[in-house]
Amino acid sequence: CGIVGYIGNEDAKEILLNGLEKLEYRGYDSAGIAVRTEDGMHVFKEKGRIATLRDAVDMDVETTVGIGHTRWATHGVPSQLNAHPHQSSTERFTLVHNGVIENYQQMKREYLQDVQLQSDTDTEVIVQFIEQLSKDGLTTEAAVSKALSMMKGSYAIALLDKEEPETIFVGKNKSPLLIGVGDGVNVIASDAMAMLNVTDQFVEIMDEELVLVKRDSIEIKTLSGEVQSRKPYTAELDASDIEKGTYDHFMLKEIDEQPIVIRNIIQKYQHEDGSTRLDADIRAAMQQADRIYVIAAGTSYHAGLVGKQLLEQVANKPTEVHIASEFLYNMPLLSQNPLFVFISQSGETADSRGVLVDVKKKGHRTLTITNVPGSTLSREADFTLHTFAGPEIAVASTKAYTAQMAVLTLLAVDTAYAAGRTLDFDPIQELGIAANAMEALCNQKDEFEKIARDYLSVTRNAFFIGRASDYYVALEGALKLKEISYIQAEGFAGGELKHGTIALIEDGTPVIALATNEHVNLSIRGNVQEVVSRGAAAVIISMEGLDQEGDAVVLPRVHESIAPLVSVIPTQLIAYYAALHRGCDVDKPRNLAKSVTVE
Ligand code: G6P
Repeated sequence: CGIVGYIGNEDAKEILLNGLEKLEYRGYDSAGIAVRTEDGMHVFKEKGRIATLRDAVDMDVETTVGIGHTRWATHGVPSQLNAHPHQSSTERFTLVHNGVIENYQQMKREYLQDVQLQSDTDTEVIVQFIEQLSKDGLTTEAAVSKALSMMKGSYAIALLDKEEPETIFVGKNKSPLLIGVGDGVNVIASDAMAMLNVTDQFVEIMDEELVLVKRDSIEIKTLSGEVQSRKPYTAELDASDIEKGTYDHFMLKEIDEQPIVIRNIIQKYQHEDGSTRLDADIRAAMQQADRIYVIAAGTSYHAGLVGKQLLEQVANKPTEVHIASEFLYNMPLLSQNPLFVFISQSGETADSRGVLVDVKKKGHRTLTITNVPGSTLSREADFTLHTFAGPEIAVASTKAYTAQMAVLTLLAVDTAYAAGRTLDFDPIQELGIAANAMEALCNQKDEFEKIARDYLSVTRNAFFIGRASDYYVALEGALKLKEISYIQAEGFAGGELKHGTIALIEDGTPVIALATNEHVNLSIRGNVQEVVSRGAAAVIISMEGLDQEGDAVVLPRVHESIAPLVSVIPTQLIAYYAALHRGCDVDKPRNLAKSVTVE
């Protein structure tokens, strides 16, 4: 979910709606705003996208204070009733919330027996509880502070009180939240992007802090009442980066940006003499670590798998890769000197943060690789490596993923050189060659559009297979296809298919096979034969030098260890066109959110 708030001198409605549009990547099941005018509070909420909400906001009166929310449902189905803002019974208080209150059932039982709740959400419990406390005689600030101290879980909230119309009450724990400051105007946002049109000056809010946001001031306090002072930072985001330009979809724009992103990363992390430019502390941490534990979710997890190969083969560092949401429940035996590496486009994924908080408590060192340097995971880890991909807006990740792999390559190279290893190839030079190959593939869109049309326009399912690092690309290719086209797609290790999944192969079932690894080229082609003889329609993505007649796509030749950066491009473009042909909403697939800040 994402939240926004505004108190200033311009029309709040428009600024809130604009802000929510920028936050739609965080969820788009339902949305709402509340604005205050002379005659009271006006709440608008709708199931569906911000565009639907915009149509429903039929108010001509100008307003200068308001809050807004875009939802990714956790407690309660997406519906108008469960959409935020939520109001207390007397409608004195109006609240938006991002996060999950774990003890809301208990709070409901203990304190709200006499209150008729309107929705199924944990959020309504907060606003009703604040009203109870204020009926008991507490000031609003005290009521908010008390409610927040009693709530377990994650939250970023913004509250309006009819009786204190010149203040927005804000609180945060675990969920991201920033206050934007301007001249006679202050704003609230889950992400700076939402309010860049108003200001580029933002103040970070820490966990368990409460903020009183007024037109001319903000006051930050801890929940125990200590006043905090903190200077704003300048958000270095370019508003034009978050526009689509001439593209129909952000996803296609972001796919096309990948060669530039890779070249940019090389420039950022390489000195002119060819040596790597990494923080000395990161280098030392890598040298001291006897094992790397990579923690990530979704696409970032797939980048981690490729990273494992690079770290082991290039840097000779034993590496394990774990799904963030499982790690704490299925913890491996740790080595003596572990280093935890968190890979996260957004830097906000709650599953990853849960692990970070836990391992930090145990005294382990942590490094975050992220596209958002000021993000929670970046702030809280000991070290950060920035992926420099620029804002990624499409929910399905593309350029952030290849950027993660490129940064992992540089980390592996730096670690190898620092340990005095000599390599029989120059991985950074190979990254440059990969960028050129990516560019060539981005110029062959017609081919991928045709593959998508021929093989994926009507199919129910599809399989991606590969061996060695091609297997990781198969996992990512399948994820991309299912995310945006809703085709049931699975990625398999080529040799594993015959142990069960081959039962799913029918006449015409599309099987996309990656064949870019020389040492497994013959065996993956054997696996292709196995499925073809059972009726599958195979699409082989191979590489110059390994190609055979009939291969659907032949990638320009690149070094094997960098090949996943290049071979993923056809799978991204095939997924994009498949989704397009099937009439799907490419940039905002159903049920998903780009940044999932709940566990
Ligand atoms: C969400 C997104 C995925 C993403 C995953 C991890 O589920 O829909 O596309 O890969 O989160 O996100 P992160 O920001 O941590 O890389």
